[in-house]
Amino acid sequence: MFAVEAKNLKKTFKTKQGDVEAVKDVSFQVNNGEIFGILGPNGAGKSTTILMLTTLLRVTSGNGKIQGLDVGQDDSEVRKKIGIALQDTGIDNLLTGRELFFTTARLWGFSKSDAKKRTLEMLDLVGLTEAADRRVKTYSGGMKRRLDLGLSLVHKPEVLFLDEPTTGLDPGSRRVLWEEIKRLREDGVTIILTTQYLEEADELADRISIIDNGLVVAEGTPDELKTSIGGDVITFIFHSYEDAKKAKGLVSNSEIENNELRTTVENGAERIPDLLNKLSENELEVVSVSANKPSLDDVFLQVTGYRLEGAADTEEELIENE
Ligand SMILES: Nc1ncnc2c1ncn2[C@@H]1O[C@H](COP(=O)(O)OP(=O)(O)OP(=O)(O)O)[C@@H](O)[C@H]1O
Ligand SMILES: [Mg+2]
Repeated sequence: MFAVEAKNLKKTFKTKQGDVEAVKDVSFQVNNGEIFGILGPNGAGKSTTILMLTTLLRVTSGNGKIQGLDVGQDDSEVRKKIGIALQDTGIDNLLTGRELFFTTARLWGFSKSDAKKRTLEMLDLVGLTEAADRRVKTYSGGMKRRLDLGLSLVHKPEVLFLDEPTTGLDPGSRRVLWEEIKRLREDGVTIILTTQYLEEADELADRISIIDNGLVVAEGTPDELKTSIGGDVITFIFHSYEDAKKAKGLVSNSEIENNELRTTVENGAERIPDLLNKLSENELEVVSVSANKPSLDDVFLQVTGYRLEGAADTEEELIENE
């Protein structure tokens, strides 16, 4: 039995401006003990998918199962099995971390003394023991995300849903969370996480589903996805965008970004001299050239027709240091 199964999930929101097909057709299966990444840009339908699988939003059609339990029919059973850290949490900032853990444990039915014990365990697990008696509104972005993660784990869920757990965090805080997420996998927790960061999907996920515009456009392990492209990615850097644009006309199957031109070929190292000759014959000066194995970024470009990288960086100004 799969830990999580999404089968032709669809969600249409009725709005005054008309229907919004947030999720058109999403299917995937998550094995027990796996970290499964849902990678996609803003508006792809990641949160909507998570909300349906966590019983918080009714499916329009298709179905979702958590360890064989249907998210529509067995919703209360499902909720006991899952932990959720949503993208927009309604955490009460006036409470302290300790109070929040205690209250959450009580809501899950822990006795007062058990709730107290669980609070200490959880504060320790997510590294918030020292900040336990400070109001949450004084926490940094990274601390808040660790708090969200901790709160989703209070009742020891078997399946954990994390919706963009590190968006807006600086690289250091992001890494701390990654380590925590990996440790949970070692403890046997199945984790479904959404992300707009290619690096995050690459680093954490055992398997990835790339979704764009409400549809799954690719699925596999990071290696499978990269191998699926085949060949090497050659990158030429020119002095100007104009030069790169001219070069695009000379190199088949290439695309440009600023003053860079990329093309995917078999045996990159062998092809480079030919390509360089062709460019210099046309009086295009190359600043540098390199051949690399495809990255997830290249995979994303191939399956969607555009680059994801940078799309998530708009929130960079939200960075808070710890
Ligand atoms: N309650 C709603 N009513 C109407 N449209 C909605 C609603 N929720 C989401 N949408 C629309 O559905 C689409 C998918 O939204 P969703 O939040 O699932 O995307 P996402 O992949 O989580 O994006 P992000 O990375 O920005 O969080 C978007 O076009 C969004 O505007
Ligand atoms: Mg979202």
